Amino acid sequence: MKGRDSMKRTSHISELREIIAMERGRGRKIAFIPTMGYLHRGHLALVEQAKQTGAFVVLSIFVNPLQFGPHEDYASYPRDLDRDASLVKDAGVDALFHPSVEEMYPQQMVTYVEVGQLDTVLCGAKRPGHFRGVTTVVSKLFHIVQPDFAFFGQKDYQQYLIIQRMVNDLNLPIEVCPVSIVREEDGLAISSRNVFLTSEQRQEAKVLSQSLIDAETCLRSGERSTRTLEKQIRETISGNCHGIIDYVEVRDAEDLSEVTMIERPVLIALAVKFGSTRLIDNKVVEVYSHDQNDDEI
Ligand code: PAJ
Repeated sequence: MKGRDSMKRTSHISELREIIAMERGRGRKIAFIPTMGYLHRGHLALVEQAKQTGAFVVLSIFVNPLQFGPHEDYASYPRDLDRDASLVKDAGVDALFHPSVEEMYPQQMVTYVEVGQLDTVLCGAKRPGHFRGVTTVVSKLFHIVQPDFAFFGQKDYQQYLIIQRMVNDLNLPIEVCPVSIVREEDGLAISSRNVFLTSEQRQEAKVLSQSLIDAETCLRSGERSTRTLEKQIRETISGNCHGIIDYVEVRDAEDLSEVTMIERPVLIALAVKFGSTRLIDNKVVEVYSHDQNDDEI
């Protein structure tokens, strides 16, 4: 008999549905973590939080071609299924789903899920079609897994907001659970793409998180102009690394709308290219309009 605790593993939608139906039949809830694999501590933090729900934990690994632009790194995106499988097994995942492209897209897609407005700014503006690819594959995965809880990292803050909005707009009975960014010791946000950095780029890349910390300090000491903060971040990055800035923006943390003077929680987000490796990072800073008055009293 297979141990009750041994991790199930399948690349077939029908088999995954059977596994999940069986667990539901036993009264278990389902927690779901969609990933593109090449797993690291960031992904494992999602597993840890999912485990805490007490639900049956399903993790998917699928490098989704639909969310990569024609000149992006779909072909070279790092993959290591065997290593990933052993990592998630040790982390206590109950079922690993790793479908092929043919399994997920057996025919030309003509149906898409698109979350308007939120996908037109930041990474959405720089990567046309990217979020449509994400929301479409996540919808498909949600329909396959039908989870009670779904876990998303705030490393991809815009993605998390978009998924939360999709779930609200489409009345999906899923609780979307955000997980804080996991960082390397020097502050660099952990990403599957970090392996592409040369040692010099890796060394320089720590300036990204440092620039966000400096901006937060500045904000907390009274600066309220997004222009000034964005300029300061740009200067810190340009002055300390060879990376090319894709964007640096301070936006409303709830709806990503433009902000001129900061009076509500904001997202400070940036994307920087080191050679062909594009890194993103962000920080949400909770400031309220009365903070400044409090300071002044
Ligand atoms: P992927 O980049 O593999 O990330 C999977 C999940 O792990 C995402 O929710 C992401 O935000 C989270 N994550 C990655 N690095 C993290 C870190 N350092 N700290 C915290 N969380 C982190 O995001 C995707 O895949 C795809 O777009 C996907 C949602 C799977 C759809 O294809």
